[in-house]
Amino acid sequence: MKICCIGAGYVGGPTMAMIAKKCPEIDVMVVDINAERIAAWQSDELPIYEPGLLEVVQEARGRNLFFSTDIDEAIRAADVVFVSVNTPTKTFGEGAGRASDLQYWELCARRIKDVSTSDKIIVEKSTLPVRTADAMERVLHAGDKQVHFEVLSNPEFLAEGTAISDLESPDRVLIGGHETESGQVALQTLVDIYASWIPRERILTSNVWSAELSKLTANAFLAQRVSSINAISQLCEATEANVAEVAHAIGTDSRIGSKFLKASVGFGGSCFKKDILNLAYLCETYGLHEAAAYWQQVVDMNEFQQNRFVKTILSSMFNTIAGKRIAVLGFAFKADTGDTRESPAISVCKELASEQAQVVISDPKALDNAEKDLADATGIMFEEDPYEAVVDAHALAILTEWDVYKTLDYQRIFDAMEKPAFLFDGRNILDHTALHKIGFEVYSIGKGRLTHLD
Ligand code: NAD
Ligand code: UGA
Repeated sequence: MKICCIGAGYVGGPTMAMIAKKCPEIDVMVVDINAERIAAWQSDELPIYEPGLLEVVQEARGRNLFFSTDIDEAIRAADVVFVSVNTPTKTFGEGAGRASDLQYWELCARRIKDVSTSDKIIVEKSTLPVRTADAMERVLHAGDKQVHFEVLSNPEFLAEGTAISDLESPDRVLIGGHETESGQVALQTLVDIYASWIPRERILTSNVWSAELSKLTANAFLAQRVSSINAISQLCEATEANVAEVAHAIGTDSRIGSKFLKASVGFGGSCFKKDILNLAYLCETYGLHEAAAYWQQVVDMNEFQQNRFVKTILSSMFNTIAGKRIAVLGFAFKADTGDTRESPAISVCKELASEQAQVVISDPKALDNAEKDLADATGIMFEEDPYEAVVDAHALAILTEWDVYKTLDYQRIFDAMEKPAFLFDGRNILDHTALHKIGFEVYSIGKGRLTHLD
């Protein structure tokens, strides 16, 4: 069997590498219009940082895993075509700022239709609005070509930073197919591929629309938990309750569960915001205004939380940060990735810079992306070494929960900083009592502040 995947990004690259590793009898060809990205996949400097990914790629590359820019040839040769291109929020026209921009997906469908000379299974790997398969089938079957395309929905649930373990041992794989004979045959083909390494009971099957909608719903529920605990963090700060204690207390209720209850400066990443906006837009398209407003609030609360963090910095530092050096530790949207898409650090740093602070950013993996994200902001500096970043700083803000920040020498950092030395822990990863003892003015999310000033 031959598989092709269009889109060699954060999803296409790792998912195909895992299929190739687990199914040595299947030829897997990953293609992209971005030649630089493809060249990087062919080297040992992979285009994305993901723990354990290089080893998986190295095991299969050249054996049954290949990367290429020859999209047409890869499509022609394939029995199964995964489409894993980006589906960002639309920036123009009807639905701008909310709807999903499907132009890359539709271009792929047209390409597949134009170059195919044999029947194929087309797999939606990208996250798409419910009923996209309907539109794609019409594009694929337009004209008088005698080739049949069976569309399946197989949304991806991996999280960045843990992509390899998520792919190796997922909670579930979801495959949606049509309830026709050819739909069920196609569905079984994909089930058999995953069954090479995933227990059959974890491979869920459904109709296409349920699979499409389950992906948006899963992200909306996850993000909703973060916004919910962040809303409670605000009340904690006002009442001397401790959000970590509240999260622990509610998380031990098995009906609630303990995951995704970490209060933070806000959720980031390329998908939560875009997928929830898309869900809200879809609800509105179907005239479901109350449902749309409900989901929109998850995004609004997240934006408020980011903005609130900057307001805390400003008000605690005597309402002026102009000319003050502020060291930002962590720019990636979460630990163990270099990805900065929709990272809360972007808006926080831009707001700090607009207050004329001198912002110095440090991050173990995301400095290149940070420089691109902040290319149009002034007063921003980049420094690999966190100990250098804090020299003469009035404040230190933790924006990503990198392990390395938990074990820094905070006495050394305190000694290097201006006094009073402010510390804002946007991820609640540090020992705040110990930092207060060192002499820091400590502010965190959802806990009372520990200060020496009042
Ligand atoms: P990405 O931007 O990293 O990768 C997409 C790739 O598609 C790019 O390399 C781009 O050059 C390529 N591409 C675009 N149009 C093309 C075309 N016509 N022909 C060939 N290549 C083309 O995106 P991603 O993060 O991998 O996300 C892809 C999809 O998967 C999105 O729908 C996203 O919502 C979903 N998703 C992402 C994650 C994640 O963790 N990033 C997880 C689950 C699902
Ligand atoms: C998320 C989902 O977890 C994946 O299942 C999904 O496949 C993916 O989106 C996608 O569709 O792209 P990802 O964005 O990579 O994965 O990372 P998460 O671990 O979900 O974190 C998202 C954001 O929420 C991060 O900024 C993280 O720091 C934040 N977060 C997470 C919190 O603030 N608190 C928490 O308790 C958990």
